Amino acid sequence: MESIGEVMDKIIDHDKYDAVVDSIMSNEEIQAFIAGNEMQETEIRKSYPKFYEYLHPNKAFDGFTSKLIFHNGYADVVYRETEEAIKAKKTKAAIRKLKAGSLILDETIKDATFDTFKAETAEESSALKFAHDLAEFYKNGGKGNAFMSGPAGSGKSHLSMAILKSYLENGEKTALFVSYSHVVRLIKDSFNNRDSMYTQNNMMSLLTSVDLLVIDDIGSENNSDFSEELLTDVLDGRMSTIITTNLSSGELRGSATKNGRYAIRTASRMFKSIGKKAFNFKDIADKRVMPF
Ligand SMILES: Nc1ncnc2c1ncn2[C@@H]1O[C@H](COP(=O)(O)OP(=O)(O)O)[C@@H](O)[C@H]1O
Ligand SMILES: [Mg+2]
Repeated sequence: MESIGEVMDKIIDHDKYDAVVDSIMSNEEIQAFIAGNEMQETEIRKSYPKFYEYLHPNKAFDGFTSKLIFHNGYADVVYRETEEAIKAKKTKAAIRKLKAGSLILDETIKDATFDTFKAETAEESSALKFAHDLAEFYKNGGKGNAFMSGPAGSGKSHLSMAILKSYLENGEKTALFVSYSHVVRLIKDSFNNRDSMYTQNNMMSLLTSVDLLVIDDIGSENNSDFSEELLTDVLDGRMSTIITTNLSSGELRGSATKNGRYAIRTASRMFKSIGKKAFNFKDIADKRVMPF
């Protein structure tokens, strides 16, 4: 039987063929492979197409690394998916899960990323930097709660969703974004709906099992002992939660003369291990450190 090399010999332009063979044989990696496997002349000739394939990878194999192996007397090319390609696939799957599992009424927030956040003012630039730094902090294994406060529309939900997506780039992590008023409503609805999957138990295990959770818009829920107790339980069951709110720290926890929206014990759980992980959109001069 004729070898592939011999068939090629017959059907293609000889000058071109010689030039291709020359380029293959002058390649140092190919030379080392031939020497390393002590390949004979006929084995080398039979291997030209595989050498050529190795040196000219097909675009369809983007995301794969190729390797030459010596097999049954001639060279062969094997492909393996690159670490980056595997990681990118995992990240994509994790983000799909985040979007599907998040409990949020404003669907546009699901598409929020750092790239789509416009930093046109100094405040937006600092907010973006804060969010970037926070994502890096959690990606590097940092723990503790974080806070974003400020008026409606300032980009708190957008940036906190972007942080979760960036966080998931690490692979093997889970994250969820929930609007707190929606959580409370879903659980209350489940009281009268036996088929609801959002029972209090299910919700608790959902919210306490993910590695990083955003509880969005605290203070927008109808306040009750129930909603406050639930918040305390969720926060007690977690290490790292990003909380956003339209309320100021004073409004959240009150002062000596005025009751806050939440009892001190709830507020103190929100501010657990918060360090400097707080950003107030209103306070340009002193935005990184809230007076907690
Ligand atoms: N700087 C920004 N660049 C791009 N889109 C923004 C920016 N700030 C806010 N948005 C968009 O405006 C809308 C309101 O922002 P959002 O994050 O929901 O504000 P907040 O949660 O502070 O009330 C969202 O659709 C969000 O994607
Ligand atoms: Mg919001």
